[in-house]
Amino acid sequence: MNNKGKFIVFEGIDGSGKSTISKMLHEKINNEITKSYYTFEPTDSPIGSVIRNILNRRIKTDEKTIASLFLADRLDHLQNESNGILNFLNDGINVVSDRYYYSSYAYHVPHIPLDKVIEMNTLCAELLRPDIVFYLDVPVSESLKRISKNRNFNDFYETEFKITQARENYLRAIEKEGKKDNVIIINANNDIEAIFNEIWNHTLDLFKKKSTANNVYKK
Ligand code: ADP
Ligand code: TYD
Repeated sequence: MNNKGKFIVFEGIDGSGKSTISKMLHEKINNEITKSYYTFEPTDSPIGSVIRNILNRRIKTDEKTIASLFLADRLDHLQNESNGILNFLNDGINVVSDRYYYSSYAYHVPHIPLDKVIEMNTLCAELLRPDIVFYLDVPVSESLKRISKNRNFNDFYETEFKITQARENYLRAIEKEGKKDNVIIINANNDIEAIFNEIWNHTLDLFKKKSTANNVYKK
């Protein structure tokens, strides 16, 4: 039976437009298709709040601990009894998430080999693979321009070096794993309307599709 919600993920380097476009898509699905729930990682759970304190440098710890915290945050994001993604999907509600495990593949790889990060995240992939991942691709120079317009570069990962590394790691991970997760690379160095139209067309196709074996949501 095809009554599960769809799980739609946005990925991309900081400033690529994930938050802008993912909220637009969530709204349009809600208005024109069926119910949608919007969410993001790092979450606003207690685990996510530890992570935010690391990102803003209030808490200092090592990179392997950071990667493990993101994994813990994601597992809770999936399984939390009150607002876990799996519950929404099982209730037939679509979920749009700003970031999922490709963010781990992109940001933790300099410190842990890609295969190991993928292996750690099989804990999540075994519970839920996305129905589609939109990877918003922008050159690092554009990302830096957009970030600097809005805020200071004080987040842990928001340095030119780290963003460059993240973009390379994203592309490498997509080449290796992208087919399994239906990753679509979107040229996000474009105006918002053009980006959104392309994403909306893919979304309409997705909703025409029947559920696949991937979409068995275990709890
Ligand atoms: P992310 O969530 O990936 O960090 P945001 O959606 O927060 O990115 O966008 C970062 C900034 O860039 C915001 O000020 C946003 O308004 C702007 N922005 C987003 N998409 C575009 C675009 N296609 N062209 C120009 N500016 C954009
Ligand atoms: P986010 O709040 O999405 O930042 P932005 O809106 O600038 O894209 O994410 C905060 C940071 O967390 C971002 O620099 C990427 C990093 N991150 C990881 O390092 N690992 C992860 O698994 C996730 C989900 C995010």
